[in-house]
Amino acid sequence: MSDTGVQARRSAVYMLDQVLGEGKLMSELLGAGVLDRLPPDDRARAQRLAMDTLRGLERADRLLQKHLSRNPDLTVRNVLRVGTVELCQGGAAHGVVNAMVTLIGGHSRYGHLKGLVNAVLRKIASEGPEAWTALRAPRLPKWLRVPLLQAWGSDAMAAMEAAHFAGAPLDLTAKTDPAAVALAVGGTVLPNGSVRVTDAGQVSAMPGFEAGDWWVQDAAAAFPVQVLAPQKGERILDLCAAPGGKTMQLAAAGADVTAVDSSPPRMGRVTENLARTKLAAKTVIKDARAITGTFDAILLDAPCSATGTIRRHPDLPHAKDGSEFADLIGLQAELIDHAWSLLKPGGRLVFCTCSLLPDEGEVQVDEALERHGDMTADPTALQVPGMDSGWITSEGGARLRPDYWADRGGMDGFYIACLRKS
Ligand SMILES: C[S@@+](CC[C@H](N)C(=O)[O-])C[C@H]1O[C@@H](n2cnc3c(N)ncnc32)[C@H](O)[C@@H]1O
Repeated sequence: MSDTGVQARRSAVYMLDQVLGEGKLMSELLGAGVLDRLPPDDRARAQRLAMDTLRGLERADRLLQKHLSRNPDLTVRNVLRVGTVELCQGGAAHGVVNAMVTLIGGHSRYGHLKGLVNAVLRKIASEGPEAWTALRAPRLPKWLRVPLLQAWGSDAMAAMEAAHFAGAPLDLTAKTDPAAVALAVGGTVLPNGSVRVTDAGQVSAMPGFEAGDWWVQDAAAAFPVQVLAPQKGERILDLCAAPGGKTMQLAAAGADVTAVDSSPPRMGRVTENLARTKLAAKTVIKDARAITGTFDAILLDAPCSATGTIRRHPDLPHAKDGSEFADLIGLQAELIDHAWSLLKPGGRLVFCTCSLLPDEGEVQVDEALERHGDMTADPTALQVPGMDSGWITSEGGARLRPDYWADRGGMDGFYIACLRKS
């Protein structure tokens, strides 16, 4: 990090302005290179500060509101929020306050607010982290909280919000030997064979990355392929494949895999991942609805709201407002119907989404079962290591939530169903 850390903090504030003011996702900002000019340490620091602030936004605002008579402009609020989060995470008061005062002092529009930032952050520092920890886990914004509360109830909601606030460890999927990977990276093997690392540093510097012994994949995201149970030599279609976590699982099982994604840059990542892990799959850049042929089994990891990944992407509930979801739900149904037309009789389709919304999971499958007389849901396929029988839903799928495996560090939210064609 540079001497005072002002650059990293300025970049964190910029990203918060973009997420909260312009509805941009962090992944879009990073993809556009907003941190590229910073040294690596500052880059990591800026990203961590922005993520931590988004996770703790409600807490920061509650502490700040006591010291503000008026709501300042977004940029000033974000300067105060970043400072508050740092102070409440145990940052040295002198260093944090000085850096934030320097930052605002150098701002062309808000430079005159140095005194305000100094006074407010000093008060926050004097209250100490105790005031922070006494507050409840931050709640999701209403647009998402209301439907989730309705779907899962208040206890589940509180548990999911605690999981979102806690963040996520790093999970890996081993190409062949989870125990050996766990030993090499200092991780533990989870009940489904994923390897969990609680204090990971830079992923590409970890043992076995260059050799392609593993890839990053949340434990919940590893379940769909385990449910599909690919067999050696089976013709398997992987629809919506990028960046390729599930493609690699299928290929590692020895299946004859065709991976399809409509996004050329995202498919580039599949190709890179396959090369690094020395695994083989045919890659096709196309809209999944334009694919032809017949397959033994199909995995459809449909594009969705990604509301199951908020532990890792705390920007999502703040950048989005749910207005795009109706289109996605329609696309998911079209993708299920097209995938069904490509499946041989007796074949299986595993449909999954990393969503917490029933409309993108349980309801989607319920409606597909009504549309297709030759479709049945097969809950027995869900009996794979690590899958809890309590996660099975009435229509025969599995509902995974971020508060499951809480004592082990949680998992992403997912919905998975195995659909058999008669
Ligand atoms: C949830 S991600 C897939 C994750 C991937 N299966 C994995 O395990 O790494 C959804 C993907 O669907 C792709 N996609 C969206 N609409 C599509 C379409 N109509 N046809 C094909 N791919 C599509 C997106 O580019 C995105 O890569």
